[in-house]
Amino acid sequence: MGTPHNEAAAGAFAKTVLMPGDPLRAKFIAETFLEDAKLVNNVRGIQGYTGTYHGTPVSVMASGMGVPSIGIYSHELFHFYDVDNIIRVGTAGGISPKLKLRDVVMAQGACTNSNYAHQFGLPGTFAPIADFTLLETAVAVARRMGVEPPVGNLFSSDVFYNKAGNTLDWGKMGVLAIEMETAALYCNAAEAGKRALTICTISDSLVTGEELPPAERQTSFTQMMSIALETAVEMAKKG
Ligand code: HPA
Repeated sequence: MGTPHNEAAAGAFAKTVLMPGDPLRAKFIAETFLEDAKLVNNVRGIQGYTGTYHGTPVSVMASGMGVPSIGIYSHELFHFYDVDNIIRVGTAGGISPKLKLRDVVMAQGACTNSNYAHQFGLPGTFAPIADFTLLETAVAVARRMGVEPPVGNLFSSDVFYNKAGNTLDWGKMGVLAIEMETAALYCNAAEAGKRALTICTISDSLVTGEELPPAERQTSFTQMMSIALETAVEMAKKG
């Protein structure tokens, strides 16, 4: 067993994998939130761990940054490791003036300037959407915690440093925030017949230019992680 990018043994991943972008975040999540976490992949430093959360097996593995990177790792998890659910836990830049720093946003869909979906050869434009069961489970979990999460469209961009300077135009269509991975993740889940959801903390605002200082990201990050982990537990109960 193994792929060009993943050295984990068959069966090494749990049915639900949480995917932060940053490998050090994956390590931190495994060490902080999981019990008995074991390193199962470290190819290119893309750390993957499997452990348990309140008795439910859960894995966490980095996606790297951007569409091509999450495209590779999520494809392999869905197709070669029998993973059913991928929950991306990331950060996003606010496009909607209604969003505040630290808000935990759920991506119902993802617009993109990436050509990723071209590979599927469809006679039109594919609309990448979250799995409804994962989304409604995560929203219910958040509400149980007293959080009413903004739910809507994200914009998955291929460029971080956008020379055209027109990112806020997406706000005219109600798009909430910008990140760089969700459209590819949702395409891969659809193609594999599996489930995916992105949950993002708003780390900066393209509207006001504000930014969360790294040290201050912890509170909202913890809330996002609790929502994602409890969602993994609920999904295990649903079978
Ligand atoms: N752009 C793209 N991705 C991001 C941003 C951003 O401003 N903030 C967090 N992820």
